[in-house]
Amino acid sequence: MDKLQIVGGKRLNGDIPISGAKNAALPILCAGLLTGGDLALSNVPRLHDVRTMLRLLEQTGLKVTQDDENVVLNGAAINTLVAPYELVKTMRASILVLGPMLARFGEAKVSLPGGCAIGSRPVDQHIKGLRAMGADITIEGGYIHAKAARLKGARIYTDMITVTGTENLLMAATLADGETVLENAAREPEVTDLANMLVAMGAKIDGIGTDRLVIQGVDSLHGTEHAVISDRIEAATFLCAVAATGGDIRITRTRTDIFDVAIDKLREMGVLLTVEGDSIRARMDGRPHPVSFRTTEYPGFPTDMQAQFMAVNTIASGPSRVTETIFENRFMHVQELNRLGAQISTEGNTAFIKGIDRLVGAPVMATDLRASASLVIAGLAAEGTTLVDRIYHLDRGYDRMEAKLSAVGADIIRIK
Ligand code: EPU
Repeated sequence: MDKLQIVGGKRLNGDIPISGAKNAALPILCAGLLTGGDLALSNVPRLHDVRTMLRLLEQTGLKVTQDDENVVLNGAAINTLVAPYELVKTMRASILVLGPMLARFGEAKVSLPGGCAIGSRPVDQHIKGLRAMGADITIEGGYIHAKAARLKGARIYTDMITVTGTENLLMAATLADGETVLENAAREPEVTDLANMLVAMGAKIDGIGTDRLVIQGVDSLHGTEHAVISDRIEAATFLCAVAATGGDIRITRTRTDIFDVAIDKLREMGVLLTVEGDSIRARMDGRPHPVSFRTTEYPGFPTDMQAQFMAVNTIASGPSRVTETIFENRFMHVQELNRLGAQISTEGNTAFIKGIDRLVGAPVMATDLRASASLVIAGLAAEGTTLVDRIYHLDRGYDRMEAKLSAVGADIIRIK
């Protein structure tokens, strides 16, 4: 298993290009199931999760042609309507094939994803929505088996805001008979990116970017070209890294309008941020100021940035408080950060961070994707050597993070 070895204490200086967003790319790839035409995608990040999704799609008969960050999908010859447990268990986002497969082919059999490290993460809302659209759904042998000659438009109010739930139902609704209204829809920029691409494929969607999506179903969708939106979580991760180490970096190929809240918090930490076109320059000197926050759905503070900001808070000039409201078990980085000397205690879903002068390097273990990123940030700031084990989690969602960081002066290497 690969590890990352980081010798901390180096300031970061230089440019970091941001890749396409994982959480936009995954649903967008699944939209390849909605059409027999060519879907020509660019800015597709080179990630383990993307490779898993492509494997899953290929085994349905979807044709995949890939050249680095460009992927062309063709769904003219789909012959298998099953997403098997072996693939789904490794990546929960596999559930995103359910809506499009059912909508276009009238049937889908998708393994139930089960729990994961950050929480139980049920998919009941996906199922509830598809049932409301007339699907006959049974759960048998660990599989969701859905059938519907043609889905029918419906008004669906999900019990909570769900990102992949919204995406699944949105894709299904594009080919349903009549009007679907998705109330309480997720507004994350990745949902919007998917919706914009669906419109380019011929879908009729109103309310994009709001919590009420109104979809008029059409008989078929066609191919299109689409560039995946820039990854706001990756961008914020590197900005947190410079907040912790000090230095002067510029993140390029990004968008500033989609992560206002993180920019606000970084400024509160003392990072000097200037926007230059599609780049953000970040300069940092001295100790970060502590920032307190609660995670919420977009446009609130994203749960996917919680661990990284907490890593910076560990060396802030005062105490802070972080409340996680989206996932019930997303504090697994706390124990590992404490191994580096951080002083964090938790009470329920709130973490109390004391803010100390310095962290000291140690061996630590990554437990999930964003927790891994927080350990890298902490390692970059710590005195001495940090060894981050189980970085396969990191590779799921960051495109060659160590290469991007060493290009700006970090002392970080991958040990095979
Ligand atoms: N929920 C249910 N039932 C459902 C759906 C969701 O109870 O049917 C609950 C979840 O258990 C959770 C909350 O609702 O407590 C929100 O979950 P959501 O469905 O929004 O999460 P997701 O769609 O499974 C996506 C991202 C996550 C990100 C969350 C929240 C993708 C592929 N994944 O997950 O990304 O944390 O939204 O923003 O888009 C990551 O990238 O590290 C990551 C975990």
